[in-house]
Amino acid sequence: THKDMKLTTIGCGYLGATHAACMAELGHHVLGVDVDAEKVARLRDGDVPFFEPGLADVLRRNIDAGRLQFTTDYHEVAAFGSVHFLGVGTPQQQRGHAADTGHVEAAIDSLTPLLRGQHLIIGKSTVPVGTAASLAQRIAVLAAPGSDVELAWSPEFLREGFAVEDTLEPDRLVLGTDPQRADSIAEQVVAEVYREVLESGTPFIRTDWATAELVKVAANAFLATKISFINAVSEVCEIVDADVSTLADAIGYDQRIGRKFLNAGVGFGGGCLPKDIRAFMARAEELGANQALRFLREVDAVNMRRRGALVDLVADACGGEVLGTNIAMLGAAFKPESDDVRDSPALNVAGQLALRGAPVTVFDPKAMDNSRRMYPMLRYAESASDACEQADVVVVATEWAEFVHMAPEELTPVVRNRVIVDGRRCLDPGMWRSAGWTYSAIGGATRDRISVRPDSREVRRPEGVRGTGGVVVTG
Ligand code: UDX
Repeated sequence: THKDMKLTTIGCGYLGATHAACMAELGHHVLGVDVDAEKVARLRDGDVPFFEPGLADVLRRNIDAGRLQFTTDYHEVAAFGSVHFLGVGTPQQQRGHAADTGHVEAAIDSLTPLLRGQHLIIGKSTVPVGTAASLAQRIAVLAAPGSDVELAWSPEFLREGFAVEDTLEPDRLVLGTDPQRADSIAEQVVAEVYREVLESGTPFIRTDWATAELVKVAANAFLATKISFINAVSEVCEIVDADVSTLADAIGYDQRIGRKFLNAGVGFGGGCLPKDIRAFMARAEELGANQALRFLREVDAVNMRRRGALVDLVADACGGEVLGTNIAMLGAAFKPESDDVRDSPALNVAGQLALRGAPVTVFDPKAMDNSRRMYPMLRYAESASDACEQADVVVVATEWAEFVHMAPEELTPVVRNRVIVDGRRCLDPGMWRSAGWTYSAIGGATRDRISVRPDSREVRRPEGVRGTGGVVVTG
């Protein structure tokens, strides 16, 4: 059978570790390699070094079945098999906006000279367009005489919190190969690796390197643009007292627009969208397309402005000045179901409030350790109600289900003032107001709304949040 191919994954971070475990889940034998010995030791023990629902089960099941191993040794990788997935990180450079491809290059430099015979390297990392072509030149220089090493690019679209699902049931599979190469084996190999996935009807798009590289950054740029579009509209809604959530529902019913990624709030963060739009702009400028992506500057600016807007809204809720006001910050992760605080709007706002002299106490269901490391100057609590102890203002900045479903009556006895600021437009304003709280939301007015046609396909927020499906405005 085509099952039990021998595959390796280079890099065992978010992308690589998930990919390794999921490829083993498809029945293949997989060896993951990483230069970080501690990460490798944890993965060998079946311990996922980050929070990702469902991943630990897949990891352990496949380690136990003998299909999944990890190492720090590239010699083992070269000897293990002939198909290698490359999933190392491409962070934003220290200076400037371009993506740093240093880890990708280092991985190629470590592996290529060790390969004998015929091999295929499949890049999965998000890279600036043109990277595959330049890596192929590196490979040509480094490859041992007589060996044949092909490079293909197959970008990964996984979302944190849905990493396993997105890998095993992707919306599409994209494969870019060398347009100059007549004897490419990539398409056939990838079709074998993903046989089960393709048989379930997943679209398989075969193209050249540059197109494949661009598909990924274009997709993320589009998603970022959608979020900033609705946030920009919300700036107008704020002035005229219109409800941007109802507006999003209404325009979202047009299938050309769609309701997903139209939730206004404190904006996008994380390890991908902010860095990817900046890297995309930087690359376009390098290539001489100076005008092409200029609008992404605006997308970025709208997004960053929302953080300031939430700080201002909290200040208003404090009566104009946050100095000396106790603020409970509920949420630190850049989104729910994640422990990731990279470029997190919630922590950025918490930090700004602290700089203005407010004692800020943070609670997040999963991101406490990462937050403490990143923002040691903030105060942390062990639960939502502990964070709200003696609070003058409660701020919700990440829409975890536990905050969305929080009962006002539970917080009323612990807070000093019944004031809540909704940074994600995820709470039920009527519920808070009728419990005697002063409720305000980023992006302007929220009405008490009655859901008449909930459409679960379009819902990103946790179940039970109002206004994600069809609604009737009653206010
Ligand atoms: C994203 C892409 O979705 C994924 O396809 C790609 O592979 C990597 O980048 P991820 O960073 O995990 O995934 O998060 P995502 O779910 O896309 O959310 C990004 C940010 O946008 C979060 O901060 C989220 O809170 C915010 N967001 C999302 C909004 O503010 N409004 C929305 O309507 C949707």
